[in-house]
Amino acid sequence: MPTRSLEPKKVSESHTVMTEMIMPNDTNPMGNLMGGYLMRWMDIVAAICAGRHCESHVVTAAVDHISFQKPIRLGEVITLEASVTRAFNTSVEIYVEVFANDVKGQNPRRCNHAYFTFVALDDSRKTPVEVPPVLPLSSEEQSLYESAARRREIRLILSGRIKAKDATDLRKFFADLD
Ligand SMILES: CC(C)(COP(=O)(O)OP(=O)(O)OC[C@H]1O[C@@H](n2cnc3c(N)ncnc32)[C@H](O)[C@@H]1OP(=O)(O)O)[C@@H](O)C(=O)NCCC(=O)NCCS
Repeated sequence: MPTRSLEPKKVSESHTVMTEMIMPNDTNPMGNLMGGYLMRWMDIVAAICAGRHCESHVVTAAVDHISFQKPIRLGEVITLEASVTRAFNTSVEIYVEVFANDVKGQNPRRCNHAYFTFVALDDSRKTPVEVPPVLPLSSEEQSLYESAARRREIRLILSGRIKAKDATDLRKFFADLD
């Protein structure tokens, strides 16, 4: 039976890209993509990326703020890109970006982005398991890696899992700005 590797992995090893064309069933009465369908695809592409990095079953534990900046029209093509930013103990943060263009490739634009948190589970699909570290290489990967610790503390405070006074990375970040 293959064992999971807990060796550090490059971001590129789990980078995941998904493409969809917006069909009539995906739209609201204005002919734009429904926000809920977009969130579903974002969750799926992020879950595939997390599963590849962790080499395990994964569940969505949290989704950070998503805003819908630019409408996506019926018949347009969207590309969702998911990358792991950082691994913690049993959880990983995944960054998803959504791009749209028309069917001829015209009017390309970045429409949405969000950070997802997934927890790796063992084969019973109940117990969280350790995840492999992320090896950030490019300056963008390193920047996302560094800032992931602060985003994690914010979401743990908002979900009531830690107290604001115990947020060490956030405190250091604000102290360094002084
Ligand atoms: C996610 C889940 C497995 C966590 O279980 P748990 O008993 O709280 O486990 P733990 O306390 O050991 O936490 C496991 C990890 O989840 C993280 N976590 C849990 N809730 C979180 C939240 N709201 N935001 C960010 N991270 C969270 C913890 O920080 C921990 O990460 P770490 O090990 O890297 O530090 C459990 O809450 C669950 O099954 N939730 C439902 C998931 C689901 O069904 N998702 C689909 C949506 S319907």
